[in-house]
Amino acid sequence: MAYTVPRLTDFSAATLADAKKAFELALESEKDAVESESDWKVFKDRWMARTNGILTQINDKWLKAAPGPSKRDVGQLVNALRLLVEDRVPKAHGNFDTFEDVVGHPTLRGSVDEVIALKKKRTALGASVDITLPGIRRPLGAEHPVIKTMNEIIGVFRNLGYSVEEGPEIETDYYNFEALNFPPNHPARDTQDTLFIAAQESKALRDRLLLRTHTSPVQIRTMQKMKPPVRVVCPGKVHRNDAPDATHSPIFHQVEGLAVDTNITFCDLKGTLDHAMRALFGSSVKTRFYPSFFPFTEPSADVQISCIFCGGKGTRDGGPCRNCKASGWIELLGCGMVDPNVYGFVDYDATKVSGFAFGMGVERIAILKYGVDDIQLFFQGDVRFLEQFG
Ligand code: PHE
Repeated sequence: MAYTVPRLTDFSAATLADAKKAFELALESEKDAVESESDWKVFKDRWMARTNGILTQINDKWLKAAPGPSKRDVGQLVNALRLLVEDRVPKAHGNFDTFEDVVGHPTLRGSVDEVIALKKKRTALGASVDITLPGIRRPLGAEHPVIKTMNEIIGVFRNLGYSVEEGPEIETDYYNFEALNFPPNHPARDTQDTLFIAAQESKALRDRLLLRTHTSPVQIRTMQKMKPPVRVVCPGKVHRNDAPDATHSPIFHQVEGLAVDTNITFCDLKGTLDHAMRALFGSSVKTRFYPSFFPFTEPSADVQISCIFCGGKGTRDGGPCRNCKASGWIELLGCGMVDPNVYGFVDYDATKVSGFAFGMGVERIAILKYGVDDIQLFFQGDVRFLEQFG
């Protein structure tokens, strides 16, 4: 028997609960019985039509008829039931939507669970499934631009015979600083904006944990386990206490390189990095080495490449080049000859071996290579950005 809205003889909690239950049961069963567009229109009008729809009727027969003291309770009930109807009526459309409708449906798109639930329901209703319809397409993901760039950098050094080493992101003070020739309290530590793990005062300084600020600790770990000759690149994630903006992020990635052997000179370092920059940015790119300082290399240098936007001229489109601040050069990475003190920490004989190290920021290289104007885009997970790298 079809549901009709009863007049309520009293407005006690028990009567309201019964009325609610009967209403809900009727709504659910009528919703489940909807099998076509025309069923759905009838269902919608029966419950929602302004003149004499069931919602209008409960308003008239229940709320308007309720005596003053009960108005609040009845009002709440009528509102709750209105929300329920407004939810179920659109859902009833799903009973007969095709798979394409569901997949293309703005609220259901991509939800495989919803499609499976619908399929089960259709089968239960005896509705036929058209197996010739195309399946649900799962879009292919794209390699993240940071990982892609990291792999390109690694590829360049692999071709030169380097192998790959990794280390922990949570490091000890010893590996991040001390063994890299940053003595305790040395001002060079200030340049690293370090994030320390809290509450470790009871430990010896060298054992205290921090988020590594660079991938250089992997140099030490590698030299501890391998004897020269060593040629490795160490890719990985690093952390610094920097406020995020278009060019800074508290998380970023580096690729470190280390070569130690007999008779390695600054010429080898220059030749290697000059080759790597051409491989990454094109054969017309020039490199320039500028004096710098790192505690673990001596001498140290910053490497600049000729500006890839203005070709090193410093001017572009008749004005100064913004990318290189009209200088024609872009600073890209740090490097140097491994400081002999470092060999003392890993039991290498500084009188017999020499070597060089370098470290580069992956995001910085990706930004230049792909013309990205905000480093935050790498970490926001916006598909519209990421899919461009597919
Ligand atoms: N670790 C340095 C930094 O993050 C970069 C570097 C690596 C410099 C290797 C020289 C040699 O600033």
